Amino acid sequence: MFSLLIITLITISISWNGKNFIIVNYFSNSSSPVYDFKTNIPLILSLICCSCVILFIIFKFTKEVSKKSVMNNFDLILGSTIFIIGLGLTKILLLLIDPALDTGSAQGRLYFYYFPLFSSSLCAILYGVLMNRASSLIFLTILSLCQTIMYGGELMIFMICMFSSATGVIASNNARRRTHLIRSGLQIGVVQSLFILCHGLLMGIASKFLAIQPLTGIINGSLGAFFAAGVLPILEYLFKVSTDIRLLELSDLNHPLLKKLVMEAPGTYHHSLIVGNLAEAAAEVVGAKPLLARVGAYFHDIGKIKKPEYFSENQWRAKSRHDDLIPSMSSLIIISHVKDGVDLAKKYGLNKDIVDIIEQHHGTSLVYFFYKRALIIHGDEQSKPKEEEYRYPGPAPQSKEAAIILLADAVEAASRSLDNPTPSRIKNLVDEIINSRFLDSQLDNCELTILDLANIKECFTFILTGIFHTRPKYPKDPQNTKQKEKNNGNSDKQSTEQIQNSPAKN
Ligand SMILES: [Fe+2]
Ligand SMILES: [Fe+2]
Repeated sequence: MFSLLIITLITISISWNGKNFIIVNYFSNSSSPVYDFKTNIPLILSLICCSCVILFIIFKFTKEVSKKSVMNNFDLILGSTIFIIGLGLTKILLLLIDPALDTGSAQGRLYFYYFPLFSSSLCAILYGVLMNRASSLIFLTILSLCQTIMYGGELMIFMICMFSSATGVIASNNARRRTHLIRSGLQIGVVQSLFILCHGLLMGIASKFLAIQPLTGIINGSLGAFFAAGVLPILEYLFKVSTDIRLLELSDLNHPLLKKLVMEAPGTYHHSLIVGNLAEAAAEVVGAKPLLARVGAYFHDIGKIKKPEYFSENQWRAKSRHDDLIPSMSSLIIISHVKDGVDLAKKYGLNKDIVDIIEQHHGTSLVYFFYKRALIIHGDEQSKPKEEEYRYPGPAPQSKEAAIILLADAVEAASRSLDNPTPSRIKNLVDEIINSRFLDSQLDNCELTILDLANIKECFTFILTGIFHTRPKYPKDPQNTKQKEKNNGNSDKQSTEQIQNSPAKN
């Protein structure tokens, strides 16, 4: 499917140029094309071969590293959309500057020649922020090839596009703020400028133009960042992509859903914050997305807003709501918080990644407490409760982040029941819970390795030990103690007097 896409995109770009395939030789005063389509076939073919080799290397390398497909169908649609935007912009800009190039002076040609490469910087930032590096580089290689074809097959244009795009992808891949986009734009601009300067030197352009021409690169990079900041929210909304910028916005504790959670289920809210810290640290250790793990954890239990008093962390009274319910009903209420959470997340427009985490944060695990209670009540063979009825609907976590949240959630909840949380007890508890989830097949589809699990255990133990640390008892100051005792004696005496003189007595 991907090969088909490549061939289609290259064909579109070639056919789009049609008869006027080679626009003009920009560095001569002649308005007639120096190159034409037929004489350039070998050059075009060699460019296509070059790109295929680059694509093959990227594909092979990323598949080896990630052991899974570089991109899914959703990435293909998003990538193709940005590609068409880039290709369209290049074409429009080339058409716009074409009259100036054709009829203008040599100076005009020199000034405007590189402006259409603005689309290259815009696409590099969009790909870098919205997609992974491997997919971005694949699309940008094809885009650079198409832009080079539009420019008449000039190898230097391919170099400018390819190197500046790669810089843009690397610079904007982890952009967390809009200002990071500007920084990425400037980096693209610097690379473009350097290559433009080299191109000028190779072409033997007059020194006064050599000083001015590279500015085009800086302008392209800056404009690319400016327009990317405007286009990104639209693409994020249309494709429901969780960029780091969007996740950072969601991590704001003033989000209406989190505010609702703190008001209606304060116990769940604080549990979610601790799960967020555990999940973020673990995600960093195993190379998952820490920000997605933290934000996913903040929202993982929002379904509890509907019936907060049925969850132990929000029960303040000695009597539990479940005391009057049969185990199967209690289990249904507990399990329903997953579906309620998914509904709420969709209603509030949360990203698909977050919705998936909410849906998968218990996997298909067993509501053990109520299943055990049901076994005690209906212990005989005939009316023995079915285990499937006491299991969450799932699916089991499909991503590293969802799996980490499943583990952090279970560990955090269990750690609260520890009587004397010493480091060794915490370590044993973490070991036991992670091993039980592994044996229960909850981690089968999430790509976490045994080594990752060992690192996660270590990370959880370290953080929980910090949370449950004990402070040394401070020695009492004898003078202060004496003074306090004296004061207490006085106040006791005073309060006795007050009671004796109080109107109640009368
Ligand atoms: Fe939950
Ligand atoms: Fe939870």
